Amino acid sequence: MSKLENIKNNTLVNLQSEYQKTKIQDILDQLDKDLIGLVPVKTRIREIAALLLIDRLRKSLGLTSSNPGLHMSFTGSPGTGKTTVAMKMADILYKLGYIEKGHLLTVTRDDLVGQYIGHTAPKTKEVLKQAMGGVLFIDEAYYLYKPDNERDYGAESIEILLQVMENQRKDLVVIFAGYKEKMDKFYESNPGLSSRVTNHVNFPDYTPEELLLIGKLMLQDQQYRISDEAETVVLDYIERRMKQPLFANARSMRNAIDRARMRQANRIFASGNRVLTKADLVTLEAEDFLKSRIFAELFAD
Ligand SMILES: Nc1ncnc2c1ncn2[C@@H]1O[C@H](COP(=O)(O)OP(=O)(O)OP(=O)(O)O)[C@@H](O)[C@H]1O
Ligand SMILES: [Mg+2]
Repeated sequence: MSKLENIKNNTLVNLQSEYQKTKIQDILDQLDKDLIGLVPVKTRIREIAALLLIDRLRKSLGLTSSNPGLHMSFTGSPGTGKTTVAMKMADILYKLGYIEKGHLLTVTRDDLVGQYIGHTAPKTKEVLKQAMGGVLFIDEAYYLYKPDNERDYGAESIEILLQVMENQRKDLVVIFAGYKEKMDKFYESNPGLSSRVTNHVNFPDYTPEELLLIGKLMLQDQQYRISDEAETVVLDYIERRMKQPLFANARSMRNAIDRARMRQANRIFASGNRVLTKADLVTLEAEDFLKSRIFAELFAD
């Protein structure tokens, strides 16, 4: 008789009540509200949540639960939400009981790799110790590996990471993050690592419309709004900003808003208007964006 037949098929388990216990729906709803766009990313999170929930149900019926490897790769341009989603992911994995603590530890090469012989192993091990029970987020992970330098200590750090990723799966989830092209090269040069990272999630660049929505959401959080006339100006601003160097998606949006708030404050202050309404204080007007450097060429001459 196979192992499976040994298990009584009529044992009942209530998916709905298990689901409600994890409060996973609340978290997914919140995720939907907090993050604009990112549909592929949200879908992947939903899939992981489903997998873990089913795994829990299987465990409760005495079926083998294999503790799926959940190490991940987040690729995408600057400001596309990788760090933000990693934080949410840590919370979700914690609430689903996959990890014990649910904290996120963000590190880069310098935190893992030493300058001198014998320094790397203790550094990497210390980081791993701190990350245990949570998520270790390795930002710009490709810097760990320097192909032109044979004696680079990065390889030593990767070796230790790999061992822990394999042997202590249920204590730690590692997320490798960085730009897509560089990450692809990084995995090509480290096949051992690539095969242990099972979830590859790519964060697409935002469209101008999504960036506008992101900006409005950020403003709403700060109890500000943009006037209807300003909205078209902001879209125009975004389209121009995207073509400029160092554009960083949602982060550029946040910076634009911060500067517009500064201009609004100056505008109100300079107007000498002593009696202000609530609307005056919360509204960013078209001119608060039009005074940006981005529009300077319009007013040249
Ligand atoms: N989809 C989104 N909806 C709302 N806000 C967002 C979204 N994506 C990013 N943000 C906001 O934009 C800012 C930048 O996001 P984040 O730091 O997560 O990007 P990142 O991909 O980690 O960037 P980098 O590669 O430069 O580290 C944060 O303030 C975040 O809250
Ligand atoms: Mg980041």
